[in-house]
Amino acid sequence: MDAEGDRPGQQSQPRNFFDEPVAARYEETSAEMFAREQVEPAVEFLAGLAWGASALELGIGTGRIALPLSRKGIRVHGIDLSPQMVSRLREKPGGSDVDVTIGDFATAKVGRRFSLAYLVYNTIDNLTTQDAQVACFCNVAEHLEPEGCFVIEAGVPQLQRLSPGETVRAFSVTPTHLGFDEFDVATQRLTSHHYLLSNGSMEVVSIPFRYAWPAELDLMARIAGMRLRERWADWSREPFTSDSDAHISVWQKT
Ligand SMILES: C[S@@+](CC[C@H](N)C(=O)[O-])C[C@H]1O[C@@H](n2cnc3c(N)ncnc32)[C@H](O)[C@@H]1O
Repeated sequence: MDAEGDRPGQQSQPRNFFDEPVAARYEETSAEMFAREQVEPAVEFLAGLAWGASALELGIGTGRIALPLSRKGIRVHGIDLSPQMVSRLREKPGGSDVDVTIGDFATAKVGRRFSLAYLVYNTIDNLTTQDAQVACFCNVAEHLEPEGCFVIEAGVPQLQRLSPGETVRAFSVTPTHLGFDEFDVATQRLTSHHYLLSNGSMEVVSIPFRYAWPAELDLMARIAGMRLRERWADWSREPFTSDSDAHISVWQKT
């Protein structure tokens, strides 16, 4: 891991953790996120906020959400650090029609404004410092039309699920994939470790994250000139409660 965040106020270009072999295995290791029942409600929700016009996806990846949203007539522009993920998007039907800027979504400029920006699948946590997460909110606000919306889908930090003193929690245990998170509560950092068995050999990948509570994200939104408009537990608008594992938050540019 690079030293991003060790010097407050300074940001270096983040490292691309979604290069090979992660990009090659992404759709297999995230298979449940590609299921229709995951994708369709997300696309419906986002299309309803895009005013039939255009949307900016931060961390567009292989186009899981961007491609079905494009098929609804929304012109999607993506930002992503990983040329390897974007090359998988390009190979899919409609993938060459999506505009993509290769860069860091906390700072990259696209040169136009959107009615909607969105950041799904916990990807805000890929920014591993508070400074970088605040910069991301400010960058989004610069890219939004007045009254445009910013949507984040992220997990609620799972700390209350840890036993006292416990710092490690498994999220995937299958014959070919062992995944577990290692928490550092003092810094709000966690590292997701993946042990992937493929053709008899083991690949080990560790990706750093910074988790944030919804209330901290609300404050970041305020700093950037946005206000919380809605918060739900999922894309079907189930109420967000103390038991929710995840949140879908919508902030509006004021
Ligand atoms: C978990 S994947 C999500 C991809 C896609 N949004 C989806 O839902 O399937 C995270 C994506 O964000 C990208 N990413 C992570 N940090 C980034 C950053 N700072 N700037 C731009 N892209 C980033 C990764 O390269 C990867 O493609």
